[in-house]
Amino acid sequence: MKHLPLAFYSAILLSIGGCKPAVAQTTATTVSTSAEEQMYRPNFHFSPKKGWMNDPNGLFYLNGTYHLFFQHTPFQSVPDFGKMHWGHAISKDLVKWEELTPALAYDEKGAIFSGSAVVDKDNTSGFGDGKNVPVVAIFTYHDMKKEKAGEIDAQSQAIAYSLDNGKTWTKYSNNPVLKNPGIKDFRDPKVFWDAKRKQWVMGLAAQDRQHFYTSKNLKDWTFLSEFGKDVGGHGGVWECPDLFPIKLDGTNEEKWVLIVNINPGGPNGGSAAQYFVGDFDGKTFKMDDVFAKQLEKQKIAWLDWGRDNYASVTFNNVPDDKRIIIGWMSNWEYALQVPTNAWRSAATIAREVKLIKKGNEYTLVSNPVKEVNKYVSKTIKGKNLKGKGKLSIPEAGKIDLTKAIVNFNVKNLKTDTYTFTLSNALGESLTFGLNNSEHYLFLDRSKSGKTDFSDKFASTITKAALDGNQKEGAFKIILDKTSIEIFYNNGEKVITEIFFTNQPFTSLSVSSNEGIELSNLVLNQLNIN
Ligand code: FRU
Repeated sequence: MKHLPLAFYSAILLSIGGCKPAVAQTTATTVSTSAEEQMYRPNFHFSPKKGWMNDPNGLFYLNGTYHLFFQHTPFQSVPDFGKMHWGHAISKDLVKWEELTPALAYDEKGAIFSGSAVVDKDNTSGFGDGKNVPVVAIFTYHDMKKEKAGEIDAQSQAIAYSLDNGKTWTKYSNNPVLKNPGIKDFRDPKVFWDAKRKQWVMGLAAQDRQHFYTSKNLKDWTFLSEFGKDVGGHGGVWECPDLFPIKLDGTNEEKWVLIVNINPGGPNGGSAAQYFVGDFDGKTFKMDDVFAKQLEKQKIAWLDWGRDNYASVTFNNVPDDKRIIIGWMSNWEYALQVPTNAWRSAATIAREVKLIKKGNEYTLVSNPVKEVNKYVSKTIKGKNLKGKGKLSIPEAGKIDLTKAIVNFNVKNLKTDTYTFTLSNALGESLTFGLNNSEHYLFLDRSKSGKTDFSDKFASTITKAALDGNQKEGAFKIILDKTSIEIFYNNGEKVITEIFFTNQPFTSLSVSSNEGIELSNLVLNQLNIN
């Protein structure tokens, strides 16, 4: 590994109290590749066959196919930031992915960093040939030579187009289309068609701010505005932003949501995604007054409180105005050290986001896309449980917990802590649950198997703040070999984390002091090959 990982993060990170991720290292291992495949290759979350993966890029839908591009170093399982590619996978249903050959490779102008892709239906770019609708990818060039020479302008924005529905790509000959204005961290363009104003809008991360640009043809870009001073989290550099319109659920009222990923500075350390609710007038994003009040209390609105959902961005061009989001299921604090060697990292399950408002509070809720239910091969309905102390949930032993969705409700909650434990025959365990005295959800992976590859991995218990006393709660939990995704109360609070057991979890229990009432237990076996 030649470069310090993320050496491109500017000095601002240090000056605002951030920290750089650890130096890249492949963990020494005695595990053979096939044993590693067997133990840790996700059953259904997307992971690259070989090599390194981080952020999802260029997400779009066209003619029945979803495209997932991703930050990729195909030839090694740690990132080479001078040789980053866009890997490529496709899916008909957002659940089952097929990996294709990398779509974009680094060249003499730089490595291909994160970005987006748009379907240019009206051929505004002129790349169309009259037969095929051009798909245009907008990405950051990261020039490692410049970075190494200490030059500030190593990052610029560039485009490439495809005339075969995203399969093959041609880089534009006049790249870059947006030169660096003298800002060291200037990257991750997310472009969308602003139908009302008939313009393309690009949002990108500029240090710890959001910048907006406009264009008529995707080639010439003009600065519009800046957002972010004194609002939200600034514990690290802002990355991978995403601005989109969304109907307030159940109404016709349109709001705009700005997602901004931040690293470090997440709610439980390292990388995470925050969001803002507001309005966009074609030039400026302005926070909604109610949301601004909410932030005074809440400080930061987190998309996911777990430690392993980063660089989350949404798909362009999805039918029926649906907002589908996918994240990278890792964290820059330890991503390079996780104990796999043939490949590193996976993507989260695709989720649909919706904006809800309860009283004076907006929440961007996320839930697994409904297409996952197509793959349920067996359903076990569990008995209701009532009692104190430790209670086993025997039905969990009847399904393979490395590919499952577990749903249940809890009611008549007391001022107590409700701890759910996934465990295996080796005594390894992962606990999660609800602390109703201090009002938070939690997840503890400190005894979940391999944890010592990084002292950052399991040193703290993840907490997701809840809004006061809970009387009841609904859990939906998605389990794969190395990940747990908890959707609480219809996705109002989400926790996504990875783990590395030495044997799969085979049982589930719950414990409480005052007693638990658990109902609607439904365990769904997934079969996604
Ligand atoms: C986020 C990020 C982006 C950058 C990419 C490089 O994880 O740091 O800001 O474009 O990864 O791989």
